[in-house]
Amino acid sequence: MSADQKSAFLAGEGDAWFERNAAHLAGNPADVCLQAIARLPLAPKRILEIGASNGHRLALLKERYGAAVSGVEPSAKAVADGKARFPGVDLQVGAADSLPFADGAFDLVIFGFCLYLVDPRHHFRAIAEADRVLASPGALAIFDFIEPIPYYNRYAHLDGLRSHKTEWSRFFLASPSYRLVQRVADLKGEAPLARNNLSGVDILLKDVETAYPQNPFA
Ligand SMILES: C[S@@+](CC[C@H](N)C(=O)[O-])C[C@H]1O[C@@H](n2cnc3c(N)ncnc32)[C@H](O)[C@@H]1O
Repeated sequence: MSADQKSAFLAGEGDAWFERNAAHLAGNPADVCLQAIARLPLAPKRILEIGASNGHRLALLKERYGAAVSGVEPSAKAVADGKARFPGVDLQVGAADSLPFADGAFDLVIFGFCLYLVDPRHHFRAIAEADRVLASPGALAIFDFIEPIPYYNRYAHLDGLRSHKTEWSRFFLASPSYRLVQRVADLKGEAPLARNNLSGVDILLKDVETAYPQNPFA
């Protein structure tokens, strides 16, 4: 494993990902993450996407909800492209483990298919940062691979990096403040049991106030 997977993305792999995929980052209303969010009666007014690339998804969410939208993304090229194409989207260069926002600044936080790229030594930090900036009540959308049995693959585009797959919502569900309310699988026509291919969107609701009822026996 690379000594610092985050630095690799900030130093150039984020830009390389953007350049490989730029043609498809125009905003797609059929996007499974947008559809999963739309199925719930949410009315978020402050939205953050972590690993937002050029902010194409945020631009559509801004339109849909009339929300203030922010994105964090390690690729300076993706951020520059997004600032030019989607001027209403606030984009900043950064990474999931250290978010430049105040506590409780958002009522919807989205992991935009980036957790699988985060260095495992930063997983808890990334989870804690998302929790810190998400208000209560609030909603969390985790768009990623959904793999109940954890494993890694070598990252095809850069030696030494890995992509890690697990069931990310479990990190949050360790806390009674989070409830899984929806899972939308994105099977892309693959056999559901084929390893490597199960991805989708988990939507969790956060409510710290109701998480711990008073002890009825005390
Ligand atoms: C598969 S792309 C998804 C981009 C966009 N959210 C989308 O759905 O089109 C993953 C993104 O995560 C970014 N990324 C990689 N490491 C990251 C980290 N530690 N924190 C936040 N984002 C990261 C990559 O640069 C890339 O833009």
